[in-house]
Amino acid sequence: MSALSRLFARPRLWGAVTGALLACLVLPAVAAPPAFEDTLAQRVLACTACHGAQGRAAPDGYYPRIAGKPAGYLYNQLLHFRDGRRSYRLMTQMVEPLSDSYLREIAEHFAALDLPYPAPSPVSATAQALQRGEQLALRGDTARQVPACVQCHSAALTGVQPSIPGLLGLPRDYLNSQLGAWRSGQRRAHAPDCMATIARRLSDSDVSAVSGWLASQRLPAHPKPARALPAALPMDCGSAYEHSPASATRGQR
Ligand code: HEC
Ligand code: HEC
Repeated sequence: MSALSRLFARPRLWGAVTGALLACLVLPAVAAPPAFEDTLAQRVLACTACHGAQGRAAPDGYYPRIAGKPAGYLYNQLLHFRDGRRSYRLMTQMVEPLSDSYLREIAEHFAALDLPYPAPSPVSATAQALQRGEQLALRGDTARQVPACVQCHSAALTGVQPSIPGLLGLPRDYLNSQLGAWRSGQRRAHAPDCMATIARRLSDSDVSAVSGWLASQRLPAHPKPARALPAALPMDCGSAYEHSPASATRGQR
């Protein structure tokens, strides 16, 4: 059975029931399809083909890590791809037929993985650019009305449960392209889309400075997302909250 058909496979119980019915109706019994162990880890092999073993990211830096990110964040991204707020055709095609509740299950599977991060790769940037990046990340820029990234992404920048991702351990190219996509409107989040507002207040050189600084930081010893924000968000953000699965009437499983 291919990785993709595993993702879309009918649940085991359903298969067993129809299998039994068929066996009663059609005699002599036809050869049973090859069995596969129906666990979520088997079903998400289709995902790890791109996202690296166990969702730890592919070495080229293009396919982002998904392991250990907050479940609400991962779930929101699957909805964003499915519902057209983020665009990557292959991702969209893959999640389009899946129900909210199955997407939630997949998000929880990857969120629960507790795997080490690689050391940051060296970043070429001037001392001045790194200083500017650090300023934006830790203190923000009141003149540009840009809050510090730590105000939402947690003091350690490892994200906040349930829905704010960490910003460390991500390649510079990935960070640049996500901030660029928010500026151009190619990536959107639930309204009000605070990241779109923030990305548009940054200059081109600010984007490159903050991405370079973030990508060059080592993760803390405990890289897990914080349990809660220490203070209210500096601006409203639709995607900072939990979006519960709608009643699972559409899609498979
Ligand atoms: C064909 C390769 C491919 C496959 C297969 C794939 N993805 Fe992705 N995925 C990508 C790429 C590329 C991106 C980044 C797209 C972008 O830049 O917005 C992405 C982004 C994501 C993100 C957002 C990550 C973040 O930090 O914002 C999540 C979550 C995700 N994928 C989950 C999954 C899951 C779950 C599956 C299996 C059901 C899957 N992907 C299968 C290529 C793939
Ligand atoms: C007001 C709160 C807030 C502030 C301030 C903020 N962010 Fe975010 N950020 C979010 C939320 C919420 C998300 C998740 C959006 C989604 O679901 O797509 C996010 C997502 C991101 C992502 C996507 C990560 C990924 O894995 O794809 C990047 C990159 C990012 N923020 C960078 C920054 C940077 C850089 C700063 C500081 C200049 C910053 N953010 C400040 C709330 C904030």
